[in-house]
Amino acid sequence: ETVEWEAASYDMGGHDTYMHKEISEQPDAVDRVLRGRIDDRFSTVHLGGLNLDPREARGIRRVKILGCGTSYHAGLIGAGLIEGMARIPADAEPASEFRYRNPVVDPDTLYIAVSQSGETYDVLAAVQELKRKGARVLGVVNVVGSAIAREADGGVYVHAGPEVCVVSTKCFTNTVVAFALLAVHLGRIRDLSVTDGKRIIEGLRKLPAQIQEILEGEEDIKKLAAEYAEAKSMMFIGRVRGYPVALEASLKLKEISYIHAEAYPASELKHGPLALIEPSLPTVAIVPDDDLLEKNRAALEEIKARSGRILAVAHREQEKADHTIVVPKNEDELDPILMGIPLQLLAYHTALAMGRDIDKPRNLAKSVTVE
Ligand code: G6P
Repeated sequence: ETVEWEAASYDMGGHDTYMHKEISEQPDAVDRVLRGRIDDRFSTVHLGGLNLDPREARGIRRVKILGCGTSYHAGLIGAGLIEGMARIPADAEPASEFRYRNPVVDPDTLYIAVSQSGETYDVLAAVQELKRKGARVLGVVNVVGSAIAREADGGVYVHAGPEVCVVSTKCFTNTVVAFALLAVHLGRIRDLSVTDGKRIIEGLRKLPAQIQEILEGEEDIKKLAAEYAEAKSMMFIGRVRGYPVALEASLKLKEISYIHAEAYPASELKHGPLALIEPSLPTVAIVPDDDLLEKNRAALEEIKARSGRILAVAHREQEKADHTIVVPKNEDELDPILMGIPLQLLAYHTALAMGRDIDKPRNLAKSVTVE
């Protein structure tokens, strides 16, 4: 059983597909998730529905994020944001894996369920199991009043607006921004300094215009897609913050183009996948201008030495890469949000060039409400 949007009731607004419409809506969508939540006086963020007072927030010893598919990937980035800013150990896990391993449910852990639809069975079942065992569960959900939103003790609405395309784009971006807001909120109650709070808030405010700037480069990305569309398989690599970006970009490509794609942490290449590298297997590399830049460049060299083709997503031209998509720089913490956007367009144009049914890829459903 699946939940279907009544697609006909949403106007395509001049776009050929919902996916393209939803990618283009991201500057407005990000604006919406930020609206009314930033408190400049205390350089923090207010989240009305969180239902977690400061004393409770200080008592959290661990954060465990649960989701499926794209929402799981957003959760991986979210875990990095929370651990980095609030200094609480945090990780993400696919909801179904969590549910089936009889997890230790700890009263000092904050559990966060992530779901666009708020109806995904595996996530809902994990939430119900957690609640049954007395855990505190928050939801990071797009659809207001959905089952997971109702079941959770509180949460953050993602405000991406209706998402019709089976694969998620604007909701992914907005979910990550919602996690950044939550991270600032928790951080400012704990050890995040005013200066850092302010720095992240300023970075968040820059996102809509920076996303717009990336979207304006669509024609160039379309040309790159034409060049890479003949690949049978693609590798995506990233390190730390860049790794979930690689995972999500590889998922997007395989979902809508049916090209086989794998994502690896850049440092794991040498432990196996390097054996695959040769001219017919292109690599997309996430190469932000941060403290890991030199490490990432070394990975590009390893690939080049095996005659692999490289498409880098970076803040400046990478000479080891065959092509670089240059994106605007934000704060290091927020870079993953921007680096994912051109790769949505890359997957889109690759699938379009291959004549795929982009909004309804074969075998997939927008919402999986059964096991
Ligand atoms: C389905 C969709 C994916 C989505 C996943 C989780 O598998 O095809 O695109 O990421 O469900 O959906 P949710 O609504 O919980 O975010």
